[in-house]
Amino acid sequence: MSQNTQKRIAIFTSGGDCAGLNAVMRAAVLRAHGLGWEVIGIENGASGLLENPPRYQVLKPEDFNGTIMRMGGTILGTTNSRNPFAYEMPDGSIVDRSDELIAAFKKLGVESIIGIGGDGSFEILSKLVDKGELNFIGVPKTIDNDVHMTDFAVGYDTAVSVATEALDRLQPTAASHDRVMILEVMGRDAGHIALTSGIAGGADIILIPEIPYTIEKLADKIKQIKQDGRNFALVVVSEAVRTPDGKKHEVVYHGGETRYGGIGDYLGVEIAKATGFETRVTVLGHVQRGASPTYNDRLLASLLGVKAVELLAEGKCGRMVAWQNGDVVDVAIEDAIKECNIVDISGKRVHTAKALGIAFGD
Ligand code: F6P
Repeated sequence: MSQNTQKRIAIFTSGGDCAGLNAVMRAAVLRAHGLGWEVIGIENGASGLLENPPRYQVLKPEDFNGTIMRMGGTILGTTNSRNPFAYEMPDGSIVDRSDELIAAFKKLGVESIIGIGGDGSFEILSKLVDKGELNFIGVPKTIDNDVHMTDFAVGYDTAVSVATEALDRLQPTAASHDRVMILEVMGRDAGHIALTSGIAGGADIILIPEIPYTIEKLADKIKQIKQDGRNFALVVVSEAVRTPDGKKHEVVYHGGETRYGGIGDYLGVEIAKATGFETRVTVLGHVQRGASPTYNDRLLASLLGVKAVELLAEGKCGRMVAWQNGDVVDVAIEDAIKECNIVDISGKRVHTAKALGIAFGD
């Protein structure tokens, strides 16, 4: 790889934050500086460039000497509600600002862009880079782990650790009070966090959007546990699970934006009714996103951040760095955004959970 002292690349974080984003930045900045490149970090998702003056900062290796790589969140800020093709202006009007954004990148002398995002962000970004003929490499991140073509996305491991620890903390209270404890975890449309933390945290029931269930089956499982002599039960439910008749549980926020929420409470009532057992509900929410990254997430962030820069050095673009079968690879962004990585219900995790006696309510 040749040294090129002229090159300036940009990096930004897009979509919901998670643990490990700063560690990706650190890896990319250190590798880029090794090649003599300058890295600028665009603030607040790419939309920081649409502000006047544009919001960005020069990222230097020394910025990452101390605490930053250990921190959750993103030092650049991010957004999951700004689309340059349909940008909401302060007066509420919707404007296509994609040309402005492309021009802002070019004006800054940025040759290539590394975007750390999830499938939603990549879809928008690939439209943008096609239109502007920008060089782009994507780094997958999301606690949901639903990005296609990578076994793991940055942030997922930390979220699962937080959810597993929550089950560890709920179990003593469940046992002390003879209760059914329901833990509602995140996962927009995919049940990975619920499934993995449920196995790791000793859940009795795991509910994921990929597997339909009935309240009767849940009640049977809980009654059986009590008949067998145990006084408590642990249930993990993914936020995207619907009621047995297909109703979504959502919260409507100011401005009409909706987010999943409420399925845990629904189940709490239904399970108590069907079993007669005292039931309590814990909604884990954004606690899953904010932690210091686990070593697995720091390692993945480092591997993917370095690889992203090296792909640019090789002249490659339109690629997403990925982790597949124990190795770092790169795949075409257009293939990565074709579908969402949901739980494989014939896969090893579901099989193992069933072998452990965990019920899915099916
Ligand atoms: O996609 C990540 C995620 O944390 C989902 O698990 C969750 O449904 C959603 O984002 C929450 O979004 P927000 O941060 O906008 O509330």
